[in-house]
Amino acid sequence: LKNFDQYFEKIIRNAKRLEKLTEDVLDVSRIEGKNLQLSKSYFDLNQTIKQVIEDHQEEALNKEVQIIFDSKKNIPATVYADEARLQQVIDNLLSNAINFTQNGTITITAYRAQVDTKGEMDESDRESTVVEIRDTGTGINSEMLPRLFDKFATRSMSGTGLGLYISKSIVDSHDGKIWAYNNKDGKGATFTFTLPVTKKDKK
Ligand SMILES: Nc1ncnc2c1ncn2[C@@H]1O[C@H](COP(=O)(O)OP(=O)(O)OP(=O)(O)O)[C@@H](O)[C@H]1O
Ligand SMILES: [Mg+2]
Repeated sequence: LKNFDQYFEKIIRNAKRLEKLTEDVLDVSRIEGKNLQLSKSYFDLNQTIKQVIEDHQEEALNKEVQIIFDSKKNIPATVYADEARLQQVIDNLLSNAINFTQNGTITITAYRAQVDTKGEMDESDRESTVVEIRDTGTGINSEMLPRLFDKFATRSMSGTGLGLYISKSIVDSHDGKIWAYNNKDGKGATFTFTLPVTKKDKK
């Protein structure tokens, strides 16, 4: 059998795509049934981010996309949250960033800051853990901008448009915020989400 490896890879790729679609549809039905249950524990968010980056490294290198984890502003970030769900959010955001970047750089930064309730940086408001994913890709299409986090909003050939909807629900259920904008200095987009720092985080 010629091309066995190619066929095999294609089967695996499609099986994974189908698995993701099934999980996404299940998540949407959990969200709509108000049944998205969080399972919180203490974990190192930096470690989670590193893991997600590792999972995407090959895909990124195949496209000449470099992923940088900015450790300058990086602080030891133990959080009390649902690790698997936050991993899912970071995974969604990083997948999107890679999808919409032909070649260039994706920078992930994690830090603590004062963030106001509208989701913009502000000195006056509550302390949050902030995760920022900045790419140098196509930027967000202007028609997409107002409905980015809606169900089935997509501009991707292979996407279903559930990733950001699910991500927002997960962040919301942690009492956090998520937002996006096109970079003013340079090309591409930046997605940011925050998690409030609670008494439990400071334990
Ligand atoms: N980093 C980004 N740069 C430019 N556009 C983006 C970026 N991330 C998301 N978008 C836009 O938002 C849309 C919705 O993203 P979302 O993750 O919800 O769906 P998807 O990636 O198209 O499909 P799915 O995640 O369900 O596989 C995308 O189709 C794209 O138009
Ligand atoms: Mg997506």
